[in-house]
Amino acid sequence: MKWFLLALLALSALICGCSSGDVNNDDDHSAPADDDTHAVDDDAAGDDDTLNPDWYRTATFMQIFLRSFYDSNGDGIGDLRGLIVKLPYLAELGIGAIWLNPIYPSPFFDSGYDVADYEAINPDYGTLDDFRELLDRAHELGIRIVMDGVFNHSSWENPWFVESRSSRDNPKHDWYVWGDEPLFDCHDPLEPEFGQDRWTFDETVGQYYYHFFREQMPDLNYENADLREAVKNVVRFWFDLGVDGFRLDAAHLYYQDAEYCWNHPKTHAFLKELRQVADEYGDRVFVGEVAGAPEKVIEYLGDGRDELQAIINFNLTYGFYASYFLHTPWPIETMMDLTYERFPPGGTHAVYQSNHDFYRMFGLLLGDDDWAKMTSVVQLTLPGIAFVYYGEEVGMTNGHEVVVDYRDAARTPMHWDASPTAGFTTREPWIALAPNHATHNVAVEDGDPHSLLNHYRRVIAIRNARPVLAEGSYTPVVADSNHVFADLRQSADDSLLVVINFSAKPQEATLDLSPTSWGGRVGTPRDLYSGAELPHLDAFSAAAYPVSLPAYGFVILELVGD
Ligand code: GLC
Repeated sequence: MKWFLLALLALSALICGCSSGDVNNDDDHSAPADDDTHAVDDDAAGDDDTLNPDWYRTATFMQIFLRSFYDSNGDGIGDLRGLIVKLPYLAELGIGAIWLNPIYPSPFFDSGYDVADYEAINPDYGTLDDFRELLDRAHELGIRIVMDGVFNHSSWENPWFVESRSSRDNPKHDWYVWGDEPLFDCHDPLEPEFGQDRWTFDETVGQYYYHFFREQMPDLNYENADLREAVKNVVRFWFDLGVDGFRLDAAHLYYQDAEYCWNHPKTHAFLKELRQVADEYGDRVFVGEVAGAPEKVIEYLGDGRDELQAIINFNLTYGFYASYFLHTPWPIETMMDLTYERFPPGGTHAVYQSNHDFYRMFGLLLGDDDWAKMTSVVQLTLPGIAFVYYGEEVGMTNGHEVVVDYRDAARTPMHWDASPTAGFTTREPWIALAPNHATHNVAVEDGDPHSLLNHYRRVIAIRNARPVLAEGSYTPVVADSNHVFADLRQSADDSLLVVINFSAKPQEATLDLSPTSWGGRVGTPRDLYSGAELPHLDAFSAAAYPVSLPAYGFVILELVGD
């Protein structure tokens, strides 16, 4: 129950001392204007005026665990051609980019995060030609493809490691972290699934190799310049094929030693070098999976333009857990203050509720559709890049079968219809389906205007039509109910007020809009979601503007007529 421990940790961090500090509502997180200091390589694609280097900032991403998305050849395993078949579904949902969990050859000790060949496709999923076709078809539909870059470690079957462990004299021996004895201790008590012993003795070379994760996943040695160059060339290999970016796995762990277990200064230096590789192409993105205290993870954004373009904001996800179970927005507000509000100009974050490492949020919300609709509005109206986890949009719950480890609960096949295999495959799926596939699936929900799927379509359409939601400034608005969350989103030419009831009971609240840009305005707030109009707003009502919301209700308001 790691999520529970993490939520508790997040809560205790909030309770014991992280003061909410100064809220700087003027912080501008919009993309930095290009000027002479912006390092885009002269002779590379960066000169192409048709490139849009900021595409990722407003795209709604879907994270796809390919093995479980759609099986096109009846072997029970999702594959690239299956994803190609389902691209129109994603386009209709409003998805602008896909993050694919690892699709490389792998012995699967860690579900693909043990990469056996960095420049090939796992035959279970198809071929490099299938991948090329995926890129073409996705790009035609305006969908970008982001891969998982697993560069902290490889599989022990990766030829790099096979050579490294063949002899101390091998030129690649030093590409991994070896010691005549264990050199430092960096185990993570919150990740018991990876074991506690991080050094394994190798008989052939008579040394120990270091693995932060499983023994089948040796850590790469970033002290070695050839290794650093080899990693950059892997990135170039995929960029040259047309890949739009990487989610960088465990990027806070690249360098470890007796002084630093994570967040090593040299890791930042290397990520800055890697950023230059993205800049050679002009429109490629790195989203970092980095973990730690808010002030540490913010450092991965560098000065806003010289390190990672975006970080996954785990702290905010823990804020979601705490807020949803306490039925109050203050953990989210506090986490926004400790993270997003302090980002350097131009830096942004990926916001998600569920992913392949946690239990699915819908299961934690006890399969309550209304509760899930409310939480999705939180995610999809906060600033940053929204990452929807495949199946979240139809309300997939957690599975029960374990093939690799407990995290398989969130990696079960996509629910396409109500048939016994959920329309995922014509044969036996590689892992048992989640229990609610007969009720929560695309075919059933497609025809129901009130379904979770149609709700997601509607909210994503609003998000895509109003970029102020992804990019505008964020100003929390004071409400006189502990259950009500309100924030004003503002850009140069647009503004929206989002109001959400975190409680299972209806709420009557008043909002103090007077310190915000809506304080001096006159008009009728209109809900983009339902079309409903709210009471007139003017100078008299702004300080105590009344809002009435049903259980888990929400409105996304524009101001009409001033
Ligand atoms: C990341 C991945 C996780 C994996 C680990 C080791 O945290 O999200 O699934 O097990 O790295 O690669």
